[in-house]
Amino acid sequence: MFDTQHNEIQQPLARSNQPPLMTLQNVNLWYGDGEKHALIDVSFDLFPNEILAFIGPSGCGKSTALKCLNRMHDSTRGVVIDGRIEMSGQDIHDPGIDPPMHRRRFGWVAQKPNPFPASIWKNVAYGAQIHGLMRNKADLEVHVEDCLRRAHLWDEVKDHLHDMDGADLSGGQQQRLCIARALSTQPEVLLMDEPTGSIDPIATAKVEELMVDLKPDHAIVVVTHSMMEARRVADRVAYFHLGRLLEVGPTEQIFTAARSDEARRFIEGKFG
Ligand SMILES: Nc1ncnc2c1ncn2[C@@H]1O[C@H](COP(=O)(O)OP(=O)(O)OP(=O)(O)O)[C@@H](O)[C@H]1O
Ligand SMILES: [Mg+2]
Repeated sequence: MFDTQHNEIQQPLARSNQPPLMTLQNVNLWYGDGEKHALIDVSFDLFPNEILAFIGPSGCGKSTALKCLNRMHDSTRGVVIDGRIEMSGQDIHDPGIDPPMHRRRFGWVAQKPNPFPASIWKNVAYGAQIHGLMRNKADLEVHVEDCLRRAHLWDEVKDHLHDMDGADLSGGQQQRLCIARALSTQPEVLLMDEPTGSIDPIATAKVEELMVDLKPDHAIVVVTHSMMEARRVADRVAYFHLGRLLEVGPTEQIFTAARSDEARRFIEGKFG
């Protein structure tokens, strides 16, 4: 279940009372048909209801690792993956797994808010509609409100659901709309690639707050370049370095007593 062999430093499970939702064992990934070895023997678990932050210097494989979880690399030519990735105990690359069904278990939030060119309501309703998740219009209305509330946006937009487009909102509001949109398909896991990387500090605080509020219903994996953000929101932190996951452990432990020189120096701001 939890392979420690190939991480140079591995730390005890933070949540050993729950089985992991996902387990990666010795995952290797190459881009360009073997040209670029972007992930090297990466192993870690993701637990339900936790926020796991990926940190590390640029180009070290954080986004690449994130995209492995929901099989986002399937559509990129020349990507080769080996090793084992399990979700709920099942190999996600098993031929019996339907990739779109697998992807539906995840919501994706990108660095730059990218609302659809449509009303606020349509942005949020769309995911539930295309997957036929709601029985009728009334349920869909309740669902849209629920997603917007859970994204801490409802009060700001409730009077403009149909007469404002997503793009009419401020940058921070757009990012919370994108989170509401990601929630629309009722994902188990939220994957966030630098979700606060292009918004201001007040908007960042709002996104961080709602991430913590989403934990009872989701596991969240967040890539961040902000050490303060990782420290504020994450339960556990994974430090990537040149394609390897050098260290993963409880947030306070990584920030106060990282075992690898590289992680310590990175956290202290000495490189990266
Ligand atoms: N589609 C691709 N084709 C070829 N190489 C790629 C591709 N995507 C990423 N890479 C390379 O793989 C390595 C890891 O990239 P990745 O985007 O995962 O890093 P990252 O840690 O997310 O960096 P950043 O913090 O800058 O976002 C880098 O060397 C990058 O250039
Ligand atoms: Mg990245």
